[in-house]
Amino acid sequence: MIGRLNHVAIAVPDLDAAISLYKDTLGADVGTPQDLPEHGVTVVFIMLPNTKIELLYPLGEGSPITGYLEKNPSGGIHHICYEVSDILASRDQLQAKGARVLGDGSPKIGAHGNPVLFLHPKDFTGTLIELEQV
Ligand code: CO
Repeated sequence: MIGRLNHVAIAVPDLDAAISLYKDTLGADVGTPQDLPEHGVTVVFIMLPNTKIELLYPLGEGSPITGYLEKNPSGGIHHICYEVSDILASRDQLQAKGARVLGDGSPKIGAHGNPVLFLHPKDFTGTLIELEQV
């Protein structure tokens, strides 16, 4: 069912410092920050030859990554995103196998304009998984 690794997301406590780290220290191709109010985050994509890194920074009250940053004050890997070709079919298959989908179970539009869903980390070896329809 899952295809390519679309991105690895890293929650960061200081977005400018993280951008500088990837751009100036690691020499990566770093995009411009985008605010995603529906997801409660500001994201910055870093383009690598074989995948992307998504820097996540809290946006607004009750951001879903605030708690994560309280537990991990210097930041850390927040989720990984796999590509799927049909997100609703994938969701139905996963739910039939007992996996929990976060939220109300319907896809939201993610940072790339594609439908995304998140799967409960306790059902996937402690890793928050995002599925993106590509
Ligand atoms: Co993501």
